[in-house]
Amino acid sequence: MAAAVELTAYVVAGVSRRFTVEGGAPIAALDDVSFSVARGEFVSLVGPSGCGKSTLLRLLGGLDTPDQGHISYGGHRVEGPYAGVGMVFQQPTLLPWRSVVENVLLPIELMGESRSLYLDRAHALLDTVGLAGFTDRRPDELSGGMQQRVGICRAFIHDPGVLLMDEPFAALDLLTRDEMTLELARICQARPVTVVFVTHSIAEAVMLSDRVAVMSARPGRIREVIEVALPRPRGPDAEANPVYHDTVRRIKSLIYDSGAMRRNTS
Ligand SMILES: Nc1ncnc2c1ncn2[C@@H]1O[C@H](COP(=O)(O)OP(=O)(O)OP(=O)(O)O)[C@@H](O)[C@H]1O
Ligand SMILES: [Mg+2]
Repeated sequence: MAAAVELTAYVVAGVSRRFTVEGGAPIAALDDVSFSVARGEFVSLVGPSGCGKSTLLRLLGGLDTPDQGHISYGGHRVEGPYAGVGMVFQQPTLLPWRSVVENVLLPIELMGESRSLYLDRAHALLDTVGLAGFTDRRPDELSGGMQQRVGICRAFIHDPGVLLMDEPFAALDLLTRDEMTLELARICQARPVTVVFVTHSIAEAVMLSDRVAVMSARPGRIREVIEVALPRPRGPDAEANPVYHDTVRRIKSLIYDSGAMRRNTS
């Protein structure tokens, strides 16, 4: 039993979340969602716009609390934000008055650690995402895709054991997106990291994930969790593997059979 808890990162048990908006009917964002994520596992969430993916990710990160059910991480109930988690939000959410490199170093300051120890790492990360020449710029001097890349570096700066990523590559051009997908796959291959990854791209989900959780339209529920039996490491040639196409087809048919995702899929 103890060993099982150690191997489990997240347990989501019967989680519901509804939002009340002034003057309107309550919105049921999530309804009775249950699933688990093993330590070191890469799980993607796919589903239609508004099905509660971002809500679920915020709950996993302890930035919001469920109305019903509970979430635990490493055997402990999640009741607020906790250390060791890197979050990439759907919007980059950078501090406008800070330079790029100062934004990347923010989690280090919040943890009360020495900035100077992480300065080289911050520059190396920014270099990886093609922002070496922009480290002293302010966020409003960057494009949306560049800001999102800064947000990705910020999530990686303290080498977190968990990454919660909300459509991190959505604002990037196709070429950078492909590069970042491979880079993330390399990072996950090199060290044990647990990832929950929200995407509208089924191809991206299959390329990166151990399992893909397909959600139904609002109120969001887990419709089915699909295993991706593609061998690792997965380079660009993984797309030639018949398993890749079978898995993409299976997820697509699940989504379209349910009428769940009408747009934003690839
Ligand atoms: N703070 C909030 N207040 C009121 N309603 C909210 C709030 N956050 C989310 N919602 C509602 O909950 C539902 C789920 O929203 P959420 O952002 O989780 O969807 P999503 O699956 O991430 O969508 P997308 O793919 O467009 O990003 C939506 O109907 C949204 O309007
Ligand atoms: Mg969202």
